[in-house]
Amino acid sequence: MKALILSGGNATRLRPITYTSAKQLVPVANKPVLFHAIENVVAAGISDVGIVVGHTKEEIKAAVGDGSRWGVRVTYVEQSAPLGLAHAVLISEPFIGKDRFVLFLGDNFLKGGIRSFVEDFKAGAQNALILLTRVPNPSEMGVAVLEGDRIVRLVEKPKEPPSDLGIVGIYMFDRHIFDAARAIKPSWRNELEITDAIQYLVDKGLDVRAQVIADRWIDTGKKDDMLDVNRVVLADLERRIEGSVTGKSEITGNVVVEADAEIVDSVVRGPAIIGAHSRIVRSYVGPFTSIYHHVTIEDSEIENSIVLEHTEIRDAAGRIDTSLIGRHVRFLRSQRRPSAYSLMLGDHSQVELP
Ligand code: DAU
Repeated sequence: MKALILSGGNATRLRPITYTSAKQLVPVANKPVLFHAIENVVAAGISDVGIVVGHTKEEIKAAVGDGSRWGVRVTYVEQSAPLGLAHAVLISEPFIGKDRFVLFLGDNFLKGGIRSFVEDFKAGAQNALILLTRVPNPSEMGVAVLEGDRIVRLVEKPKEPPSDLGIVGIYMFDRHIFDAARAIKPSWRNELEITDAIQYLVDKGLDVRAQVIADRWIDTGKKDDMLDVNRVVLADLERRIEGSVTGKSEITGNVVVEADAEIVDSVVRGPAIIGAHSRIVRSYVGPFTSIYHHVTIEDSEIENSIVLEHTEIRDAAGRIDTSLIGRHVRFLRSQRRPSAYSLMLGDHSQVELP
């Protein structure tokens, strides 16, 4: 089996973070969400991994490299524009060849991993295996209709969902998917939809099975989903203090303080992670918070949040909660008069004041 991880596309719902960075590289528990996908694939015993990249290709390549860090071989497939998931599959045919493969959307997160599904599919004779999950909002995703464990109908983001079974962005295919992707036409959003390609397989009478998953699945397309994954991953954190903890500091629960991080006169309540070379001074870092590397937090309080690298937070009035703060952000209290908000926010920023 091979794996194909999609890391191209646009990410309008995570702006402004994604103006400067690929959405698949936003860290959850201080590890890019894409790395969690790669680790799932590796844990399923797959060592040949293709990654489809788009306009953020340089950044993805720099972060992932040749895969040797995970003991796998990574092949990059360049997609000229985000023309759809089935388009991404089609241009990857030279990499996949005749192998069976798992298609993993690089912004999807599945808590229990994919090992058991890969093993089932590898051993079986099905042409496709689709993972489904019961969701309250099926009209925001692909939706499937089942007869037993066979899929009989699929619709992409239907206004009137025919079921509450949402299609998880992790699929297993054999080579028939390439014929399907060649046969379908672009959708109203001008994309070759993988959902339509799977419907083509169903219409041709091929064996398309479904498994309804029990584990927690999250599509990390929006801020609150990102914070959700962060909470799920941090919930399993194991305590590890490698940096320095000095002064009147108090570290409780499962907290990771990475090497060369400094906690000075601060309270950190886990689960939380403080990245390398970050400094937390006279501050409070509360549960479910991930502070990435080279961050400074002074005289401030924060919880339930993700802070990206090289950001500085000083003298924040009131506690920062449920926030996703980008790279090189400066969040400071002004000493100047008149006392006023002085902002320089990128397009699509969001500020909610108490
Ligand atoms: O997350 C599950 C959903 O993913 C499924 O329920 C839907 O049926 C499926 O169509 C897909 O919907 P989205 O609209 O959420 O897909 P999105 O455009 O966000 O793309 C998913 C990932 O694939 C993302 O990491 C970007 C990447 N991508 C996307 C496109 C359209 C590519 O690499 N190339 C592309 O052309």
